[in-house]
Amino acid sequence: MPRQYQYGFANEFATEALPGALPRGQNSPQHAPYGLVSELVSGTSLAAPRAQNRRSYLFRIRPSTGTHAFTPFALDNFQTPPLAIAPYPGALRWGPFPLGEAECDFLDGIETVAANGSPGGHAGMALHIYRATRSMEGRVFSNGDGDMLMLPQQGALSIVTELGVIDVAPGEFALLPKGLKFRVDLTGAEARGFICENYGLPFVLPDLGLIGSHGLANSIDFMTPVAAFEDSDVACTLIHKFAGNFWSADIGYSPFDVVAWRGNWAPCKYDMRNFAVIGALSHDHPDPSIFCALSSPSDAVAGGNVDFMILPPRWVVAEHTFRPPGFHRNAVAEILGLIEGSHDARSSDFAPGSMSLTNNWVAHGPDTRTFEVARTAPLEPRYDNDTLVFMLETRFPLQLTRRAMEAGNRRVNCAQTWAGFTKRFPGG
Ligand SMILES: [Fe+2]
Repeated sequence: MPRQYQYGFANEFATEALPGALPRGQNSPQHAPYGLVSELVSGTSLAAPRAQNRRSYLFRIRPSTGTHAFTPFALDNFQTPPLAIAPYPGALRWGPFPLGEAECDFLDGIETVAANGSPGGHAGMALHIYRATRSMEGRVFSNGDGDMLMLPQQGALSIVTELGVIDVAPGEFALLPKGLKFRVDLTGAEARGFICENYGLPFVLPDLGLIGSHGLANSIDFMTPVAAFEDSDVACTLIHKFAGNFWSADIGYSPFDVVAWRGNWAPCKYDMRNFAVIGALSHDHPDPSIFCALSSPSDAVAGGNVDFMILPPRWVVAEHTFRPPGFHRNAVAEILGLIEGSHDARSSDFAPGSMSLTNNWVAHGPDTRTFEVARTAPLEPRYDNDTLVFMLETRFPLQLTRRAMEAGNRRVNCAQTWAGFTKRFPGG
């Protein structure tokens, strides 16, 4: 299947894998080209405002209706709120999650760390780790609960979807809309990464306000696959997540049979090194909201359902200032993950693949060693080349899974990184 892309975020795309497969002038002709059937997917309320409405017309070999019956299915580590552990009011940190010794595909390798809200309430999110040592074989997944923002940290993925194929590697993310059928193939020996499952409103590009018409994540840098299809009568199993439960159904053909489609309900990918950073050019640093790439809106005052931030390589030039992120407390909860390099507020024990979680009102900031170095460091302009960090901010307190709290890679003494603070008052 071809790897070609169209550019833009949730644009009005139109793509056909065979010439003339897209009907001209209408979406539901009496006879569609090539004997295809027309199927509408509405990702939002039918009458949602035009700017937020997400829908696509799919022209496929068979409709998604089928004679199959769903039976309950178990994926014990892929969890949905309520989780076992109440929101923890202190700092939490994990080293890289080990790849493990058992062979697993992407779906078996999903393990939930934290979550809030509920899919049925259309609010909240979950943070999962995924690990895989082989491609998904003979099975396909669709998530009726949330969009999936997938962040490879190790190993590349080839994501075969109803609407085309997305190749995604560390440094990029893929965004798959709720309800899309897909399969994850590995291109190397193993893969690991993070997933944000968004139960709330679909992600949008944030408004730029006084920044103007360009900056942060520009729409033109998002890549959406062109139509690609399989005409296969080989049976496969569809695994569907719905209302926190998993169901399976055997279907007698490949569901990746969409020959052409048009609309703006579509998966996409984005290279995080294309993020156009807005930063401090004088003497202080702004809030990290300047790193927001995507937002699932909720409340303008209380906080977003989930905001996704990117901190890529960038120049650091501010003078007469404390340059690393300072000490702070937030009304919203925050998850931080390291894709590559290091993070400028963590001086040790935070290798790529590590993550931290600070619930609402948890005080955090530079560890003691970072603080001591940064308060006297010469402030020459420098380029921080070796870093790629993502952050998720969500207004709702994050519950935790028992497995995450008992994981061997959890840094149970992470608060000690702030020990040894030197009281200098009333000196200088
Ligand atoms: Fe923070």
